Amino acid sequence: MTTSEQPLAPTPPMGWNSWNMFGSTIHEDSVRATADVLVSSGLKDCGYNYVVIDDCWSTKVGRDGNGDLVADPEKFPSGIKALADYVHSLGLKIGIYSDAAHLTCASYPGSFGFEEQDAQLWASWGIDFLKYDFCFAPTDQATAIDRYSRMGEALRKTKRQFLYSLCEWGGRSPQLWGRSVGGHMWRVTGDIFDSWVDIWVAPHKYYGVGVDTAIDIAANLAEYAGPDAWNDLDMLVVGLKGKGQISGGGLSFIEYQTHMSLWTIACSPLMIGCDIRNMDRDTTSLLTNREVLAVNQDSLGIAGRRVKQTGTCEVWKKPLADGSLAVALINRGAIGSDLTLRASDIGLLDTPKSVRNLWAQEDIAEFGEAWQTRIQPHETLLLKIKA
Ligand code: GLA
Repeated sequence: MTTSEQPLAPTPPMGWNSWNMFGSTIHEDSVRATADVLVSSGLKDCGYNYVVIDDCWSTKVGRDGNGDLVADPEKFPSGIKALADYVHSLGLKIGIYSDAAHLTCASYPGSFGFEEQDAQLWASWGIDFLKYDFCFAPTDQATAIDRYSRMGEALRKTKRQFLYSLCEWGGRSPQLWGRSVGGHMWRVTGDIFDSWVDIWVAPHKYYGVGVDTAIDIAANLAEYAGPDAWNDLDMLVVGLKGKGQISGGGLSFIEYQTHMSLWTIACSPLMIGCDIRNMDRDTTSLLTNREVLAVNQDSLGIAGRRVKQTGTCEVWKKPLADGSLAVALINRGAIGSDLTLRASDIGLLDTPKSVRNLWAQEDIAEFGEAWQTRIQPHETLLLKIKA
């Protein structure tokens, strides 16, 4: 970023990504309809403003005579430029996907060796966001830094602002170098599945990451996040309910709420992954709770930290710009548990303080030295505590 440019991601990016639900069946009609629903459902007003086309958008056979990537004419008969214009006309932004090797993860053409050409093409289409994957690339860190730098530089040369989303799944510690290659967010997890526990994905021979594992991954990375530099826990699985690409059977309402609470307090980008054309009330309530979203989007941009583990429960805290704290009380266990939260656990004095339940949007308690509560299995209480 040059000094004259505004930061692109002062708070964690929000939007929708096609992969979790549509995978290779992505089509311009569903993208347009999704963009429409972002507006009509109020999601855009909540801050979800990127519409990201993930893998499988181009022709599999390769590039055209000029060496340019070509949008699949069956999936995108109007072309990506027309789609970008439409998305922009709704006041939204549009993202696209490629890979730092010769092929993408789903074996479509990748951008290695074509960085400048592809970046120029996307800029000419009006693209605002690039998710850049790492399948088929050599697995060492030096290569990752080199390849992500090449694309970062190519994006800069277009003179168009791209939000640059790195996706090497955390194995090469992108939190240490993501910012320096121009990245605004970097995946720190393998692919999240719609599951509480990790899942063996037999055809691809890897473990899909369950929400319970993501809790530990996020706990170790808070210090690396900040404005324009976010640890990306992967797209949201809220609302998938067992449908889509990454089904692990689905989560219960309480587990989806824990998933959303963790992504919120950890300052992860919030990229919706479900089919928002068919959202039920539970899904809408999980995605649009303004008091919860305000924690994720708080202007200080400080990612929450795990400050205490006791039995199956843990306490996370995140300082907010108004001087209060967001606090998450998570029970990872399979049975309900009592938890005593002490003022000292979250660095506060024993003076009176109020506790607001952010999901319920209710003031629920006041306490000085300690407050005891019961947490259901896999439940998270997301609180705002004000001294
Ligand atoms: C990888 C990424 C996913 C998705 C797929 C597409 O697995 O981690 O988020 O982009 O590739 O093939």
